[in-house]
Amino acid sequence: MGNEANTEQKIILPLLKQWGYQSSEYQAKPRIGKGYPDFLVALPMAGDRPLNYLIIEVKTPAQSRLTGGQQLRYYMEAAQAVFGLLTNGREYHLLYQNPLREPLQQVTCASGILDQQTIQKLTKILHRSAAAALVTALTQQRLKVYHYFEKALAKSFSISSTTSKESPMIITVFNHKGGVGKTTLTLNLGAAFATMGKRVLLIDIDPQSNLTIGVGINPLKDVEEQGKKDIADLLLEPKVGLEDVVYQRAWGNLHLDIVPAHIRLADKEPALISTIDIDRVLQRKLKNHGYDIVLIDPPPAFGKVNAIALMASDGVLIPTQFAPYPIRAIEYVLARLEAMRDAMETPPRPLGIAVSMYNRTTSAANYEMKEKLSNILEKAANGRQTVQILPESTWIAHRVVMLRATESQQPIFSRKFYEELDRSDKESIDDLTTSFENLARYLFTQAS
Ligand SMILES: Nc1ncnc2c1ncn2[C@@H]1O[C@H](COP(=O)(O)OP(=O)(O)OP(=O)(O)O)[C@@H](O)[C@H]1O
Ligand SMILES: [Mg+2]
Repeated sequence: MGNEANTEQKIILPLLKQWGYQSSEYQAKPRIGKGYPDFLVALPMAGDRPLNYLIIEVKTPAQSRLTGGQQLRYYMEAAQAVFGLLTNGREYHLLYQNPLREPLQQVTCASGILDQQTIQKLTKILHRSAAAALVTALTQQRLKVYHYFEKALAKSFSISSTTSKESPMIITVFNHKGGVGKTTLTLNLGAAFATMGKRVLLIDIDPQSNLTIGVGINPLKDVEEQGKKDIADLLLEPKVGLEDVVYQRAWGNLHLDIVPAHIRLADKEPALISTIDIDRVLQRKLKNHGYDIVLIDPPPAFGKVNAIALMASDGVLIPTQFAPYPIRAIEYVLARLEAMRDAMETPPRPLGIAVSMYNRTTSAANYEMKEKLSNILEKAANGRQTVQILPESTWIAHRVVMLRATESQQPIFSRKFYEELDRSDKESIDDLTTSFENLARYLFTQAS
C-alpha cells in the first residue's frame, strides 16, 4: 500500500494540475504557525498579502480512519485560508472559512469518499478560476463577495444555511445507567455540531449539573449567588422564557449556548409532577430561537425530568459502553420508549445506540459485546424496525485525555485546550474529534 508521499505524488499533484495551478502557485510543506501542512495554494493579490486559498493535509492511507481535522483547522486559522482539504487519497474532508468574518470559523462542508464524482464537485470550487475570481472581487473591495460565494457553496455542499428553522432538532441523550459518558457525549457532540456551523443549545436537566460544570459554569457561584435562573425556572415559571435562562459560552471561535441546572432541581419533582401540561412546556419554549440543534442531558434515572426531556424530543440517542451492565440497561430504555410510543402522538424516535468509552485494544471482547447488544436490539424490536448500533466510525474511544478535558471544563474541540497538549494527546484528540464529527454528520443526514 502507498504511503503519504505516494498519495501526494499520485493524487494531490495531479489534482493541483487538473485544478489549473502552476507549480509557482503552491508550496509544499510551508511553515504555518507552529507547523508544516503538506501544501498551501496561494494567489497574489495586488498591493496586499496573497490570498491563501487552499491548505492540503495528506494522511497515510494505511490508517484505518482519516483524522487530522483539528490540526487542519489550526493551519486554516493561522493562514486565514479559505479552504482546507484533508485526505488520505481514499477519503476526504473539506473545510471552509470566510477569512473576513470575525471570529474565524472553520466549517466542514463535505466529507466522504474521494471518487471521480466528488472530484468533479470539488473542482468547481477549488479550481484556480474560482480562486482568481475571489482575488479579483477582493481586490476591488467588494466585501459582499463572500456572501455570494457562500451561497454558491451551500448549493454544492451542505454547509449550513444562515436561515434557521422555526423548530430545532431536539435530541435527548439518554440511558438510565449512570456514568456511561452521556454528559461528555452531549457536550462534545454539541461542539461537533457547532464546528459544522450549526447553532447549538445544550440543556442540562440533571440536578448533578455536570453539563453546566462541564462548560465552566459554577451552579452555586454563577447561578445561585448571582440570582440567575436555571432549568427549573424555565420549566415551572410560565413567564420565564428561554432568553432568561441561556448562558453563552465560547472557546475561541467555538460557541455553545446552555441552559444550566442546579441541585435545587432535585427538590422540584413534586412541583413538576403536579403542573398540568408540563411535558409540552419545554418543547414550546424552545421554538423560534434560531437554534438548529438542541441536546438535552438528563440524569441517569426514570423520573419526571426524564419524561419531560423525552417528550420534548424529536429523537433519543442512546449511549452505551460495551460492558455488561450498560448493555443490559438498554433493554429497559427501549421498553420505556415503547411505552411512550403507545401513549404519545409523536413519540421521540430512537436514533440509535452510540458507543462510548470504547476500548480499541480489546477487539474480541468488543465483538462479543456487540453481538450480545445486537441480540437484545433484535428481541426488543418486536416486529418494529430494529434500533441500530451506529456505525463504527462514530464510536467514541476511551482516552485518558478526555478526563483532562472534563477537568479543564472545555469541549475537546477547544483550540486552547488542544494547543497545550503534547503530541500523543493531540493524536488522541484528533481521534476523538473525528468520531464526534462523524456522529454529528451521521445524525444530521439521518434527520434531514
Ligand atoms: N471517551 C472517554 N474516554 C475517557 N473517559 C471518558 C470518556 N467519556 C467520558 N469519560 C469520563 O467518564 C466519566 C463519566 O462520564 P460522564 O459524566 O459523561 O457520564 P454520564 O453518563 O453523564 O454520568 P451520569 O450518569 O452520572 O450522568 C467522566 O469523568 C468523563 O470524563
Ligand atoms: Mg451525566
